Amino acid sequence: MSDAVLTERRGAIAVLTINRPKTLNALDVPTLGALDAAFAAVEADPSVRVIVFTGAGDKSFVAGGDIADMNKRQGLAHYVEFAEVIHRVFRRIETCDKPTIAAVNGWALGGGTELMLSIDVRFLADTARVGLPEIKLGLFPGAGGTQRILRQVPLCRAKELMFAGEHIDAATAVSIGLANRVVPKDKLMAETLAYAESVAEKSPLILKLMKRVLLAGAEMPLAAALQHEQAMASLVFDTKDAHEGCTAFVEKRKASFTGT
Ligand code: CAA
Repeated sequence: MSDAVLTERRGAIAVLTINRPKTLNALDVPTLGALDAAFAAVEADPSVRVIVFTGAGDKSFVAGGDIADMNKRQGLAHYVEFAEVIHRVFRRIETCDKPTIAAVNGWALGGGTELMLSIDVRFLADTARVGLPEIKLGLFPGAGGTQRILRQVPLCRAKELMFAGEHIDAATAVSIGLANRVVPKDKLMAETLAYAESVAEKSPLILKLMKRVLLAGAEMPLAAALQHEQAMASLVFDTKDAHEGCTAFVEKRKASFTGT
């Protein structure tokens, strides 16, 4: 089995570490395959409530697509051999029913930022640098980046990043809405896991339905999205977890959710 992606369990949390430090964790096709397999395993495991992503070593989260690997394929070959794989893996992560968190421990460039854009919540080490430098390679972001970023940050900010390909620091990434928090580097994993634990103790069923409402709603006209939310929220009221949460509040005790 490949060690390009390592899986570690911390209770109900699975930590996936992209592990190609010699290339600053750049993503080639085999690494994307390993990421897909590792992700599929934790996605299917009912004891995993939250999935955290990070990069091996202390310099980089993911430095992008592997430039040498991508350079081997052109035109249609690129489309089917690299682009198809990276799109499929990132979409799988984006549409996962379980909450996902990025612990960005250094460079997140190109495909690294595009991976971050597919992950729900993003904590950045104060040393992290993010960006979409593809233009410097004569490319543009092609792993879903152009479309996800314009739906997540103001368009002028997205264009500013993509046109010049400059790196931005963690505080700037947070200020434009590309990431959630800046954390001192030596506390990144502890703070990420503390947040992950607070999510993991919530109802996995409600989190799943909420994630579906957010994902589908973002792609719908507002009127339809509101109706969809109303229907799903009404379904939620029919769950044991809704009654447990409300009863626990009334009884002034901590709720214990079962995911039913
Ligand atoms: N692909 C392949 N190898 C990479 C890489 C990448 N994206 N990024 C870094 N590496 C390799 C370097 O070639 C180098 O290898 P050698 O030791 O064999 O020379 C090693 O990792 C260390 O890198 P540097 O010596 O360059 O480290 P640095 O600290 O001086 O610079 C950096 C760090 C600024 C991240 C720089 O490595 C860099 O600019 N990397 C490329 C970033 C980039 O352009 N990413 C976008 C790729 S395109 C993409 O992602 C498209 C897509 O849609 C998926």
